[in-house]
Amino acid sequence: MTEDKTKIQLCSMKHLDEYGRIYAAAFSGEPWNDPWMPGDAVVHVKELLESDQAYGLEYVTGGKVAGFVLGTSMLFHYGRTFEINDLAVDPAFQNQGIAKKLMETLLSDLKKQGIVGVHLITAADAFLPEFYERFGFQKEKRVILMGRDL
Ligand SMILES: CC(C)(COP(=O)(O)OP(=O)(O)OC[C@H]1O[C@@H](n2cnc3c(N)ncnc32)[C@H](O)[C@@H]1OP(=O)(O)O)[C@@H](O)C(=O)NCCC(=O)NCCS
Repeated sequence: MTEDKTKIQLCSMKHLDEYGRIYAAAFSGEPWNDPWMPGDAVVHVKELLESDQAYGLEYVTGGKVAGFVLGTSMLFHYGRTFEINDLAVDPAFQNQGIAKKLMETLLSDLKKQGIVGVHLITAADAFLPEFYERFGFQKEKRVILMGRDL
C-alpha cells in the first residue's frame, strides 16, 4: 500500500542509499554539475551522519524520501554552532517547497537545541545566496573561505 502522508523526520542510516541517490542526482544538475557517483555520495552522507554531532532531517512523501538536510555542530567559546553540510532535493521533487520546509524545520529544531548560530558554504553565483537569505542568512564580512589544491 502506498503511504500518501508527507512528513519531516530525523535522518536514518536505513535511508543512506536514498540520500546518496538524491545527493548525486541533485548535485549533478545546475549550478554544480558535479559528476557524483551514487556510491561515493552514499559514503559522503554516511560519514557525516556517523558524526556524534550530526543532525539531519528527511522529507518523506508517498513513502519515498524526496530530500534531506544534514549537518554537524561544533562548540566554540561563544556557544555551539551548526554547519549545514548537505541540502538536496530529488530533481523529480524540486520546486515544490520541500527545501523551504526542511530549512524552516531545521532552524526551528536547532534553536530549541540551544544552537547559537548556523552557517554554510554555497555557490556564490546562481540562486543559492538568495535562497538562503530568505531564511535570514547573510554573507559574512569578517571571514572568507580559503582553499588550495594538493
Ligand atoms: C537548492 C535545492 C535544495 C532547492 O530545493 P527545492 O525543494 O526545489 O526548493 P523549494 O521548492 O523549497 O524552493 C524555495 C525557493 O527557492 C527558489 N528556488 C528553488 N530552486 C530554484 C532555482 N533552480 N532557481 C531559482 N530559484 C529557485 C524557489 O523559487 C522557491 O521560491 P518561492 O517560494 O518563491 O517559489 C535544490 O534545487 C537542490 O537540491 N539543488 C542541488 C543541490 C544544492 O544546490 N544544494 C544546496 C547546496 S548549498
